Amino acid sequence: MFRLMNHTMAATPSQTFNHRHLLGIEDLTRDDVYHILERAGYYIEKNREPDKKHAILKGRTIINLFFENSTRTRTSFELAGKRLGADVINMSVANSSAKKGETLIDTAMTLNAMHPDCIAVRHPESGAVHLLARKVNCSVINGGDGMHEHPTQALLDALTILQHKGKIEGLTVAICGDILHSRVARSNIKLLNLLGAKVRIIAPPTLMPAAVHSFNVEPFYDMRKGLKDCDIIMMLRLQMERMEGNFIPSVREYFHFWGLDEEKLSYAKPDALIMHPGPINRGVEIDSKLADDLNRSVILQQVEMGVAVRQAALELLLHSQ
Ligand code: NCD
Repeated sequence: MFRLMNHTMAATPSQTFNHRHLLGIEDLTRDDVYHILERAGYYIEKNREPDKKHAILKGRTIINLFFENSTRTRTSFELAGKRLGADVINMSVANSSAKKGETLIDTAMTLNAMHPDCIAVRHPESGAVHLLARKVNCSVINGGDGMHEHPTQALLDALTILQHKGKIEGLTVAICGDILHSRVARSNIKLLNLLGAKVRIIAPPTLMPAAVHSFNVEPFYDMRKGLKDCDIIMMLRLQMERMEGNFIPSVREYFHFWGLDEEKLSYAKPDALIMHPGPINRGVEIDSKLADDLNRSVILQQVEMGVAVRQAALELLLHSQ
């Protein structure tokens, strides 16, 4: 049974973290993951107190460099950095020189010359964040690169599951919907496998990746069969912005076959948790009432865990520099 650290236990992390960047779950060991999650446990408690501020990263500079829209991830990195005492600068592509034709590498080198300690990057191209990490002297955190990885999302999802179930090993987790375009699915598949969960993916054939057989998951093409007796249901948004061509006949038909409603949910275990990385599209991938059902849905707790996980990641990366 995993135990989250009580906040009175440790104001500083116990061991060093041997990574300069957090680019993907693929680079982490089980110990690394539990190290981050334990540290995040400390911040969950601190974030519920009136005074949430630390001086751990005082004097450090963090840049949020977002080439794609974001509400929760960007705000979460910003809050995480500020609560640790760092100076945080937000850059979005709408008002950056990328709009004037500057390449990703030139943007990276320019920011690097200002001596940041960490850059959190979101980019529409898979692999772009790795490329950027090779060009700068500071730590880089992947805030989502194309359809590839979104490691802090998978970590916050694991933390949310641990809060409710006390373990991940042996749980059956169903990830449902637009798997093909989802970096959240890819990072979660890696992390859940690393921690010993049984992972199912449920998708229409058009949204199932061709390489599914190399993912170490059980694929399903039917929601009722895939949800049967599962402990955790992770719903995904249709990533329309990544689709070229028609992947679904209509939104209405998609909801009928693939949207989570009471009837399909009844196939899962009675205490199954409903998760979603957000932003949710009500009535498309999830019934509005279910999304708001606080007995089943942990969507807002995922947001809360996100800040704690990002504080832990920032602290561990910057402390080991
Ligand atoms: C996800 C993302 O951007 O990959 N959202 C998030 O980070 N909370 C999923 C999505 O946009 O559907």
